[in-house]
Amino acid sequence: MSDRIETRCIHAGQSHEPRTGAVMTPVFQTSTYAQPWPAQHTGYEYARTQNPTREALEGCLAGLEMATDAIAFASGLAATTAVIQTLPGQARVVCIDDCYGGTRRLFNRVFAKMGVNFTYADLAKEALDQAIPEGTHLVWVETPTNPLLKVVDIAAVAARCKAIGARLAVDNTFATPIFQRPLELGADLVMHSSTKYLNGHSDVVGGIVATRDAALAADLRFVQNAAGAVPGPWDTWLINRGLKTLAVRMARHEENGRRVLAWLGAHADVARIHYPLLPNDPGYAVAKRQMSGFGGMISFVLDGPLARAEKFCASTRLFTCAESLGGVESLLELPATMTHASVPADVRREIGLDDGLIRLSVGIENADDLIADLDQAMVASQG
Ligand SMILES: Cc1ncc(COP(=O)(O)O)c(C=O)c1O
Repeated sequence: MSDRIETRCIHAGQSHEPRTGAVMTPVFQTSTYAQPWPAQHTGYEYARTQNPTREALEGCLAGLEMATDAIAFASGLAATTAVIQTLPGQARVVCIDDCYGGTRRLFNRVFAKMGVNFTYADLAKEALDQAIPEGTHLVWVETPTNPLLKVVDIAAVAARCKAIGARLAVDNTFATPIFQRPLELGADLVMHSSTKYLNGHSDVVGGIVATRDAALAADLRFVQNAAGAVPGPWDTWLINRGLKTLAVRMARHEENGRRVLAWLGAHADVARIHYPLLPNDPGYAVAKRQMSGFGGMISFVLDGPLARAEKFCASTRLFTCAESLGGVESLLELPATMTHASVPADVRREIGLDDGLIRLSVGIENADDLIADLDQAMVASQG
């Protein structure tokens, strides 16, 4: 297999269906498999445990992340859940302070009451020896973060984890393996909400975890079957199909993202922009080192009251005001009242998440049309 990512998007983990030669792995829509003799099966016993359509997706994502294994789940949060379920009781987890609101809610409101101990730190800024004390079992990093687009130095955190025997898991949802491959930088696990760029068409919810560590892969595979948060065959088929165009989509997201960025940067009403590939962004140097591109995620703050940001989001015509990101169509949202509403207001203030922060997921439409749309929304929000 080529080590070039565009080729791997299409061929990694794929094989022709052996009975008919079907070029694409079909949707194996079955819950169980016939056994020729009791307890003697063909390698497929029950669809929670094995499904060839799911395996095609897992093989492709493993190939893209340069992993040996990938294990698919029913959502990004189900994938995160599985990682926590591999930890010992009373485990200590250090998590980046700015992360998807649902991740924080899962940690604080589901796992904390079961005895898992979570602390939050700005791993993009704080001294790692202090932020990640000895005795830590897992470090959970999102980079770039959602929604402030902070960048964490994966290799530096991996080195600290290695020194104290902790595992490092990186949520790579925003960057995708096209632009960043955390396992190559020393992470033990890479996790995705495949709902986003991997699938790319806003029609599926899914999650996936990849690793090069055989013992960890076995633990995750066990949890996948034992806890059972598996994705259905249609969903895995759609995500696998989405992966085939991931490289071309990401290139276009990046191109359009930079066009929108330039327009925002030149607009007098834009008070602040978060985008790590801006030379004055605090994440610039690390992003340049560990990412080969960035994509279409941009967060910014408008001058004026919160009502102006709300009106802006309600006034776009091509950008749809909706949660989620990473689809071919452009979306925008206000994290404080939408995707991150579950993060308490004082915590949002502490991490610098303004109520008026607008998050764009720039799609792959014509960039001039997207800019014209933002421009008319800017005018509409002034009134
Ligand atoms: C960075 C990130 N990680 C994880 C998740 C959770 O994924 P899902 O919604 O597929 O459960 C999201 C969802 O928005 C996300 O943005």
